[in-house]
Amino acid sequence: MLSLIFSVLFLSGAIRASSHPHPLDPLTAAELAAVGTAVRASPLIPARPLTFHYVGLDEPDKADVISQLTSLPRRALVIARAGGQSHELRVDVTNVSSPAVLWHAVHHGAGFPRFTTADEVAAAALPYKYPPFVESVRRRGLDVKDVGCGVIDMGWYGGGESEEARWGSARVAKMQCFVASGTANFYARPLEGVVLVVDIERMAVVGYRDRVVQPVPKAEGTEYRADKVGPPFTGPAAAPGVVVQPEGSGFHIDGHVVRN
Ligand SMILES: *[C@@H]1O[C@H](CO)[C@@H](O)[C@H](O)[C@H]1NC(C)=O
Repeated sequence: MLSLIFSVLFLSGAIRASSHPHPLDPLTAAELAAVGTAVRASPLIPARPLTFHYVGLDEPDKADVISQLTSLPRRALVIARAGGQSHELRVDVTNVSSPAVLWHAVHHGAGFPRFTTADEVAAAALPYKYPPFVESVRRRGLDVKDVGCGVIDMGWYGGGESEEARWGSARVAKMQCFVASGTANFYARPLEGVVLVVDIERMAVVGYRDRVVQPVPKAEGTEYRADKVGPPFTGPAAAPGVVVQPEGSGFHIDGHVVRN
């Protein structure tokens, strides 16, 4: 089984801790842990499972940041899913030993929080167990183990005039598929004509379309990695160059603050 996960994982680099934390500094590991503790312990969201779709700094007002007369409270904005609902919370983590949920609301408007990697992994496994999809792959003379599907779009179809509006405000996503054998560049080999619609909440295929059979582009000539494509990309390396700033870099980095 081959799964294509399209989410981008932001890995924070090792950023040197500053002796003077700035009010707009991102949440620290200890603050993030405190947010998790407070939200899981909150009686406001008893339903389980509870998944965190966004946790970030709840930025203080600009005027307060500029004046910096007092040390500002540290707060997090949280978007979570539980019990089939989207929850928004503000959590005070000024003291990470006693975090407090300050505000909570259930979101009833348009849209859903972005998918988690766990959502995408579970969705990517569904097509292989969906007989119409397996048949579509077979009809194209392909091996199902060479095909991978991924969640491409955000999946809000509620309210509009479109055909998709029949999915209403369900938490659904369209999936598209690619042939990944023989190339690192699977985007160049789409399985044209095939679209699956997945209800992420129920983790089930709820819509399927195989509207046209087109040839899958060949794998040859799709290589893009410089070390694999051959000359001129694999020739001798260019001579090294040197950039000199005799008076220094002209800026200073202190924690997350950059000053000139
Ligand atoms: C932080 O919270 C803990 C636990 O409630 C408490 O013992 C401690 O005094 C608090 N620290 C400050 C600076 O308020």
